[in-house]
Amino acid sequence: MSILVTGAAGFIGSHVSRRLLARGETVIGIDNLNDYNPVALKRDRLAAIAGGAGGDRFAFHRLDFSDHAAIDAALGGIDIDRIVHLGAQAGVRYSITNPRAYAASNLTGHLNILELARERQAAHLVYASSSSVYGTSPDLPFSVEQRVDFPISLYAATKKADELMSEAYAHLYRLPQTGLRFFTVYGPWGRPDMAVWGFTAKILAGEPIELFNDGRMLRDFTYIDDIVDGILATLDHPPVDDGAAKPGGSVSPHAVYNIGNNRAEALEKLVALIEQACGRSAIRINRPMQAGDVPATFADISAIQRDVGFAPSTPIEIGIPRWVDWYRRYIAH
Ligand SMILES: NC(=O)c1ccc[n+]([C@@H]2O[C@H](COP(=O)([O-])OP(=O)(O)OC[C@H]3O[C@@H](n4cnc5c(N)ncnc54)[C@H](O)[C@@H]3O)[C@@H](O)[C@H]2O)c1
Repeated sequence: MSILVTGAAGFIGSHVSRRLLARGETVIGIDNLNDYNPVALKRDRLAAIAGGAGGDRFAFHRLDFSDHAAIDAALGGIDIDRIVHLGAQAGVRYSITNPRAYAASNLTGHLNILELARERQAAHLVYASSSSVYGTSPDLPFSVEQRVDFPISLYAATKKADELMSEAYAHLYRLPQTGLRFFTVYGPWGRPDMAVWGFTAKILAGEPIELFNDGRMLRDFTYIDDIVDGILATLDHPPVDDGAAKPGGSVSPHAVYNIGNNRAEALEKLVALIEQACGRSAIRINRPMQAGDVPATFADISAIQRDVGFAPSTPIEIGIPRWVDWYRRYIAH
């Protein structure tokens, strides 16, 4: 089976590529290696894919998928059976200063991947959405059946738009698709722009960390290996075109799932576990809650549990020490 993975040099895409190769698939990875996060880290992730089990079945193309001519030029003549579309302009804060990066990667880019899937009659397109579509909804746990029409960032608006574009393609072309609303993912090869990386780097460097609402915010953290299990299980279960309503409400072959841990953890507990694994205490600067911030987010994952058997099994007590161990080895290399 030949699988296209977009964002293959990214955090989640690099893990998915390695796991697909390890189970015998052929993987075509694409990424434009932009510098939103360090390019050296992206190159190291690619080297880990090529050097891992089945790495000889990995082909990488550096290209910008918002450029459809570049996709055609690089992938014309290459077999693609299924697609895992993880490439995107991520991050909430960056969308305030660089809104056009989100339009290019997340709107035009998503459309180009839909067109590619349609042209190739892909058996399944799994794509990344985000828990940020829930905005400041007070309805916990967040469920894919609730209304999500009130984004509080352009990033969230583009992710919701992706779900709508996908729905139109599922309806018009009966293209089987699954949208995954990721909650905060952490683990080895993670992202420097995310809190877990930032806290760890600062604690080890003896620099202060900022904690909002005294760390009493509750968040849903999912360990990368659990997320990859869920993505692969989803990829292997394309929604059936039987007219029945799918999670998220579509009557076309298009399911939308939350993929997270179904438990909310206090940020303060996360910091305590990082301190313990680092063997150093954090210097805390407590700040009040920020405007627009929400005290708690966590996922209702019953639909993905029921349909594909997703069962996250790594509590933060296990995942955080593994993460810190990887981080220390990586920065020392
Ligand atoms: N990591 C999380 O906690 C989280 C949470 C919610 C949603 N998501 C979503 O999951 C997906 C994967 O996230 P991640 O954490 O691996 O992010 P990431 O930033 O590490 O990976 C995304 C990759 O896409 C590439 N990319 C961006 N625009 C591109 C373009 N136009 N052409 C080619 N490549 C492009 C980037 O270079 C990057 O390597 C993203 O869609 C993200 O929005 C992630």
